[in-house]
Amino acid sequence: MNITGIRGFNDILPQDCEVFRFIEREAVRVFSSYGFSEIRLPVLEKTELFLRSIGETTDIVEKQMYTFLDLHGESLTLRPEGTAPCVRAYIEKKLYNAPVTRLFYMGPMFRYERPQKGRYRQFYQIGAEVFGEESFRVDAEAIEMLSVLFKDLGVDGINIEINSLGCNLCRPGFKDGLKKFLEDKVEALCSNCRRRIGKNPLRALDCKVEGCIEAAKNAPSILDFLCGDCKAHFENLKESLEKAGVGAKVNPRMVRGLDYYTRTAFEVTESAGVLGSQNAIAAGGRYDGLVEELGGPKTPCFGFAVGVERLALLIDREKIKKAPLTLFISMGEEAEKKGPEIARRLRKEGAGVILDKSEDSLKGRLRRADRIGARYVIIFGEDEVKEGLLTVKDMTTGKQEKLSPDNDKIRLVKLLTA
Ligand code: HAM
Repeated sequence: MNITGIRGFNDILPQDCEVFRFIEREAVRVFSSYGFSEIRLPVLEKTELFLRSIGETTDIVEKQMYTFLDLHGESLTLRPEGTAPCVRAYIEKKLYNAPVTRLFYMGPMFRYERPQKGRYRQFYQIGAEVFGEESFRVDAEAIEMLSVLFKDLGVDGINIEINSLGCNLCRPGFKDGLKKFLEDKVEALCSNCRRRIGKNPLRALDCKVEGCIEAAKNAPSILDFLCGDCKAHFENLKESLEKAGVGAKVNPRMVRGLDYYTRTAFEVTESAGVLGSQNAIAAGGRYDGLVEELGGPKTPCFGFAVGVERLALLIDREKIKKAPLTLFISMGEEAEKKGPEIARRLRKEGAGVILDKSEDSLKGRLRRADRIGARYVIIFGEDEVKEGLLTVKDMTTGKQEKLSPDNDKIRLVKLLTA
């Protein structure tokens, strides 16, 4: 019997890797231009990290974590997200000795969710986190940076929704109000929301069960409960986004699926319907209490993460510049001897060259060039050996010309690498 892969764990095939690389390259370029540096974090962490940060009554912690005991009986978890590991590293490596730290990371995350289009059990995120800045300007700048990334990737047709989740001062009032409101409708709620009502009534606003959506329809709005500072933060953020030309809509019902948020929460969705129900392509917000909660100094933070698979589905593949591939065909004993050295020299100059090793007719070998998607074919036969030239055929136009690997090197390399 053949061994198959695990459901929800995908092979990212070469043509998709090209799109992933394009996204990653652009993200590195854009994030670096805003002063972010990369951090590489392990995929495995102590389970406690996620229990204490994401929240014990969230879907992620209750149902979606890949948790197991290692050989010494320690409980470990494959990271379901990158913020908590980033905060753990920030504290452990004392990165707080710098006044402001801006970090980004990319890599696989793991959640035991029901696989469907745009939702996988191993998926890739690119995340960015700012440590040590409290101003609404940071929230606005990070959201602007994300919209620049989408623009530069050629992705439009996106919606940005923002909300404020308040702080330790004002959220308890909202929680109480919401709890009272939900208690009257408890019959209509799913068993999960009923169970969570006491500890974490906000989860009912994020529940996708029809009855809960209906029951929470006229729930109180958190925006009516914000304290003066949180209100000012939110108003200033809205104004800054407007000034920066970033269109964002207020959604007072958005609470996000992780418990560590304070004040700003935001979500970016795709609007054209390409992604279907899994249309959130990025999300994040402020988490001013998390560093302290995990044992570090009081540090206000803001961050977000992009879902790479979902974003990849929105990229126009035609726009990705591909390095051309060249099939190098040597014919005759002398050419077979000298060809590999010329190919080696071309590769050193940046060209992608495959040496054709078949014994076929030229026609057959050209067909093979077509099949592997070669943009150019170099024919190095007996005549070419005598002349010291290469015949270079452009497979898209059918045109061919003879070039010397020495005297025409600049033109040849430009052609094969452009
Ligand atoms: P999140 O909303 O859980 O936030 O995930 C961010 C993005 O990851 C989602 O918008 C989605 O595009 C993608 N994503 C999530 N789950 C899956 C899945 N099962 N399959 C495919 N894509 C998925 C966080 O993870 C926070 N750590 C974001 C953050 C950073 N907040 C502050 N800093």
